Amino acid sequence: MSSTATGSTDTLTPVLTSGWADERSWTLDAYARRGGYAALDKAFAMGPDAVIEAVKDSGLRGRGGAGFPTGMKWSFIPQDNPNPKYLVVNADESEPGTCKDIPLMMASPHTLVEGVILSSFAIRAHTAFIYIRGEVLHVIRRVQAAVAAAYAAGHLGRDIHGSGYDLDVVVHAGAGAYICGEETALLEGLEGRRGQPRLRPPFPAVAGLYASPTVINNVESISSVPSIIANGAEWFSSMGTEKSKGFGIFSLSGHVQRPGQYEAPLGITLRQLIDLAGGIREGHELKFWTPGGSSTPLLTAEHLDVPLDFEGVGAAGSMLGTRALQLFDETVCVVRAVLRWTEFYKHESCGKCTPCREGTWWLVQTLARLEKGQGSEADLDLLLDQCDNILGRSFCALGDGATSPISSSIKYFREEYLAHLTHGGCPFDPAASTAWSDRTVGATA
Ligand SMILES: Cc1cc2nc3c(=O)[nH]c(=O)nc-3n(C[C@H](O)[C@H](O)[C@H](O)COP(=O)(O)O)c2cc1C
Ligand code: SF4
Repeated sequence: MSSTATGSTDTLTPVLTSGWADERSWTLDAYARRGGYAALDKAFAMGPDAVIEAVKDSGLRGRGGAGFPTGMKWSFIPQDNPNPKYLVVNADESEPGTCKDIPLMMASPHTLVEGVILSSFAIRAHTAFIYIRGEVLHVIRRVQAAVAAAYAAGHLGRDIHGSGYDLDVVVHAGAGAYICGEETALLEGLEGRRGQPRLRPPFPAVAGLYASPTVINNVESISSVPSIIANGAEWFSSMGTEKSKGFGIFSLSGHVQRPGQYEAPLGITLRQLIDLAGGIREGHELKFWTPGGSSTPLLTAEHLDVPLDFEGVGAAGSMLGTRALQLFDETVCVVRAVLRWTEFYKHESCGKCTPCREGTWWLVQTLARLEKGQGSEADLDLLLDQCDNILGRSFCALGDGATSPISSSIKYFREEYLAHLTHGGCPFDPAASTAWSDRTVGATA
């Protein structure tokens, strides 16, 4: 559901999502009717440095999770380096709960393609890659078709719009590993090697793809650029909060009446978003939620009024992440949900470093025992100790992220963990508990 479909535009700021409900919204014609590709001529007249300045002034921060300032990242590209410069779009979207880039690419792939041209021009790249996870073949086909249409219309290729600027875009299909969303593992994958993170420094801005200066940005970050160039940095920075400017797509999933994509200024609260989404499902109440996917610490109903910007969510003890708001009502066992996520991290650990490779295995063992009601209270301390040995000691942020659901759920729902011990299984559904954790332990022993 696009934000326009909610019927309220008071709080929402549909920009990226504005044309999603249009007839054949993904076509070049539909995009042109929405003013598509008009920002190119403006940017060519401004010149690359002015485009970087505009993005810096807008305050745009990366929409892929970490929130690094986009314009600043671009300015790190050393222009005196004789190697080619590359732009790589991270379209690997696979964090549990995160589901904004795929709808964006399906509904309006030309927004991304226009953003790629503007961003490549700014960093003086003549080749750009869009790395899409391999499982989503329909998305790959849609973006490939958009790139082909852009070439045919003269928006890509040689001497774009008579500007003298040349750009080629390659759509690359990944092989579908969560770790390939980590930017340096993605580069390894793009170069044809096993997707495992690289040691930094050197950072990609200095030695990225093929050891050349490389900018890696999320789909939504790059897709935000055309509107910034078309409407000006001030227009963008007038939305959002002091240090978290602009708008973003908030993806509501789970026990809410109308799940979907809600594009709103950063700083909106979950309470406002739930209102826009018609409330929590009838007769139920919110129990816990993730602000930005499963790697961000859980929050509870007491955090409904936290401003959803980088600073507000950080102050509440979590992270804004990808704004993947997964909502769970009181019918959900938090221990089982956390066990399920932990299984995911164990499965997706790339195995390069010991704390994550071994630690995620141990986390599943300990959690599965607790969920089955077979552990003891000391296992909670054991779990926290295992988290302590992974957090900050792993080679990349996957290991850190694996600990977030566990430590935050123990912080807010310790009693529920203990209830599993007194019930001898899941107090919500003991039969399912046994079936689930038998499978889990069996699969990992
Ligand atoms: C395990 C892991 C998975 C990641 N997956 C993605 C992803 O699917 N998409 C994405 O844009 N960033 C992902 N990231 C973050 C990227 O490493 C990187 O910070 C991001 O692409 C930078 O783009 P941005 O500055 O535009 O946010 C992931 C990071 C980690 C540690
Ligand atoms: S933290 Fe996990 S995913 Fe990251 S390098 Fe280590 S083993 Fe691989």
